Amino acid sequence: MTNHFLGIDIGGSGIKGALVDLSIGDFASDRLRIPTPEKSTPAKVAQVVARIVNSCADQLDPDSPIGITLPAVVTHGHTRSAANIDKSWIDADAETIFAKKLGRRVVIVNDADAAGIAEARYGAAKDCDGLVLMSTLGTGIGSAIIYRGVLVPNFELGHLEIAGIPAEHRASAGAKTKEGLSYAEYIPRLQRYYSYVEELLWPDLIVVGGGISRSSNKFLPKLMLKSPVVPAKLRNRAGIIGAAYLARESTK
Ligand code: BGC
Repeated sequence: MTNHFLGIDIGGSGIKGALVDLSIGDFASDRLRIPTPEKSTPAKVAQVVARIVNSCADQLDPDSPIGITLPAVVTHGHTRSAANIDKSWIDADAETIFAKKLGRRVVIVNDADAAGIAEARYGAAKDCDGLVLMSTLGTGIGSAIIYRGVLVPNFELGHLEIAGIPAEHRASAGAKTKEGLSYAEYIPRLQRYYSYVEELLWPDLIVVGGGISRSSNKFLPKLMLKSPVVPAKLRNRAGIIGAAYLARESTK
């Protein structure tokens, strides 16, 4: 059986895909990125995904499912929420929509769950054998929990309310940009969020991803936490790699 699976990561601004070699956990083709359509409805997004799939169709095993991430809670192939994408994803049968458009089997996963499993298998949490919290700081806050290599899906910790406000409204990288916060102003918000999460989950390791993790030296060393906190290793490849990985897992 092939070790090459296609992973597609759907974000608020870009839809990215690449063929992944799962024997090494890295790209086996160039990454293709197409801007997310302005109104990111399921039909419009599926069109873009089809362009990515067609661009590498000759390298794909026709029977292999494709892994696709969305910034939404996903249960049984349906998207249940839509915090940072078009609201028409709420309760959409995403699996059927993509499968019909692509004429192939697909596996739909939450974006942070995909990033988390990729970091656990191939990246920053590879050697952690306890409870890993993957936390992505982007427009929203994504979270994934992996216990001894097993993903527990849909941990929506970014929506925890702290002082009556959803955490991601104050502590996401998006909030930092929107409010023009300096790191000195932003760090206490992160501290409050991660301290709270830590009291609830007691992770053995926290991995912080999202675009801002490129500058992790400016904020991670300043956080006072019980567990070690490290930057993600796979950076913006994690979603694609995790999606491809979970697609292969679905065939076992
Ligand atoms: C969504 C999550 C998603 C995260 C990162 C949150 O607003 O509720 O499902 O993982 O943003 O995109």
